[in-house]
Amino acid sequence: MYKKRSEPDEDIAVDSTTHLPSLYGDDWQSETTSIGSSLYRGLEENGRRYQTLSHKEYLIPSDEKQFETYEAGHLVALIMDSDNDNPLFRAPVKDPKNILDLGTGLGNWAIDVADMFPNTTVRGVDLFPPPVKWMPPNCILEVDNIAEEWTWNEPQDLIHMRIMIGAFDDAEWTRIYQQCYDNIRPGGWIEQLEASPYVDCDDDSLPEDNILRTWGPALSACGKRAGRPLETIDMMQDAFRKAGFVDIHEKEYKWPLGPWARDQKYKEAGTVNYQHWMSGMEGWAMWLLCKFGAPEPWSQEEVIVYVAKLRAELQNPRYHIYERARRVWARKPFPEEIAAREQAEARAQADRRAQADMRAQAETETETETQTNERVYIKREEE
Ligand SMILES: C[S@@+](CC[C@H](N)C(=O)[O-])C[C@H]1O[C@@H](n2cnc3c(N)ncnc32)[C@H](O)[C@@H]1O
Repeated sequence: MYKKRSEPDEDIAVDSTTHLPSLYGDDWQSETTSIGSSLYRGLEENGRRYQTLSHKEYLIPSDEKQFETYEAGHLVALIMDSDNDNPLFRAPVKDPKNILDLGTGLGNWAIDVADMFPNTTVRGVDLFPPPVKWMPPNCILEVDNIAEEWTWNEPQDLIHMRIMIGAFDDAEWTRIYQQCYDNIRPGGWIEQLEASPYVDCDDDSLPEDNILRTWGPALSACGKRAGRPLETIDMMQDAFRKAGFVDIHEKEYKWPLGPWARDQKYKEAGTVNYQHWMSGMEGWAMWLLCKFGAPEPWSQEEVIVYVAKLRAELQNPRYHIYERARRVWARKPFPEEIAAREQAEARAQADRRAQADMRAQAETETETETQTNERVYIKREEE
């Protein structure tokens, strides 16, 4: 097993001529979908609509406002990998038959992958029925709860997840990675892309006391209290390894927040990421703060006011801010690799045992020698 690490992008060069209003339009309103089924109606709470399939609440709303955020998140990920032949994933999958996207949201990723691989069956699954009007014929969007026992029969060439931060507690994550492992064919791949909830800044442009700096810690503390850690970005590698995956690779990113970067790719990514956050923050925070806010759960109005203040600060192009993101991909080993690994582990264990035995024997011999010497010494004393 080996692991390839990549350094995050270097400090991003700043464009000193950036002015905000010229870059952001107001065209982020999507049409409203009205569908009769009770799953589509969801559960209204604090002005947002949540899924009702799982008895366990999912923290992010499934409503039109949040779907705009999913679209924007998809675009940011694509722009950040636009210099790659395949901006959708990095796992070196050849001629895949089956690909699965867990927590597919609007199915953007699944649909794009289905377009890219017309002979592959691409399945996207989500708690909330994706309100999608058109799909390529090789794409299937399903409604299901991936925290429960999976029932797919086809071995997958690739299982993908993106922005599933805070969706599960630790035990659920372990089970999901185990089910990924069990459902991937030997030699197949898992890939996950996650972003951090913290607003980062490499220079002094974001003042220490800026409200944007409170966002990450506030949400992370709520996630902890809710038993849904938001540090998904930092736990994927280890979780993949524990589940049995090998060949673990990772790519770290800085997703700019705003159009402040000089480089065109970062400027575009930052512009879309700004929209991602502007449309997303209320939905990301509402459940967490209204249920687990400190010092006591917040009201809907308090969350709205907090998010309005954050939005106002986010509009300042003088803040060279970004969020960390990380993509990790890894392979399920072939049976002969597993056998070789087990043999190597058994040999290493036997070596360790033999060394421990030798050490114990050496200690016993030293002890006996010391006792004999002591006896000789005592005898000499007596003489
Ligand atoms: C933040 S969205 C990301 C959507 C999509 N992966 C993307 O990147 O555009 C997370 C999605 O995971 C889904 N989800 C959360 N828990 C789930 C579960 N237990 N089973 C299936 N889907 C789940 C949510 O409904 C939501 O659509």
